[in-house]
Amino acid sequence: MSSKLLRPFKLLRLLSSGPVRRAVISQAREAYHATQAEKRGIPTAQINDVVDPNTLTVALENFKTQHGNVTYTELLYLCMVVKAYLRPGENFLEIGTFDGNTISNISRNVPANSTCYTIDLPIGVQNLDDKYLGGDKDLVDSRGEKQLKHRGRKNIQQFYSDSTKFDFSQVSFSGAFIDGAHHYEGVKQDTENVLRHIKRPGFVLWHDFYGYNEVAELLYEYARTYPIKRLAGTNICFLELGSENRQP
Ligand SMILES: C[S@@+](CC[C@H](N)C(=O)[O-])C[C@H]1O[C@@H](n2cnc3c(N)ncnc32)[C@H](O)[C@@H]1O
Repeated sequence: MSSKLLRPFKLLRLLSSGPVRRAVISQAREAYHATQAEKRGIPTAQINDVVDPNTLTVALENFKTQHGNVTYTELLYLCMVVKAYLRPGENFLEIGTFDGNTISNISRNVPANSTCYTIDLPIGVQNLDDKYLGGDKDLVDSRGEKQLKHRGRKNIQQFYSDSTKFDFSQVSFSGAFIDGAHHYEGVKQDTENVLRHIKRPGFVLWHDFYGYNEVAELLYEYARTYPIKRLAGTNICFLELGSENRQP
């Protein structure tokens, strides 16, 4: 048999091998995700459309994720956005601390005199409304005092409160990451509160944009008013607020 005839077989064998198959599936999923989101008003941006990676150095520590955390890529991109957009003295707010993995890393990338605020439900409080918590109940229950990675970080201030009942006038912030409740009403209230209180120029990041879930349905509505983008290769959406655009 000629080597020309063998080539398609070699290609097929290569395509069916584990790593190649996984890469193809992941590329196909990404393309589908981007196309679906774009149709509904949320285009996908590459990270280097949003920040200039050549001018950034980010610090990452305890770079280990578990179920409930963002992915490695997402953590890196969050830190890059924070590093690029937050100016000295501007503060950052996270809704949904979980084990503190993300806020701990973000706190290593904010300007020296900036504060990171993070809000989560009180630990150990029983009888939280299961219906209201939805799919987050396991994450809420799994948090433990010992797990909290941001303990001892001087530039982080933790609030234990239901974010939908939190008094946002207590905090001044120019960047926000919304990753607390994941049901439509909860994310909507968090988004409304953030948009009402965030300083301009500022930026908002949302996690868990899967294209079809309640977070996504809400963001498609906001996308009619705000130029929200999805960051390629992630489930994060990004919105820059204010006329002053400091990035490419
Ligand atoms: C997916 S985890 C957050 C992960 C974290 N941002 C990270 O990147 O590692 C969601 C967190 O939101 C918290 N949460 C859920 N509903 C909330 C609410 N109404 N107010 C405050 N926190 C809430 C849960 O307790 C849980 O710790």
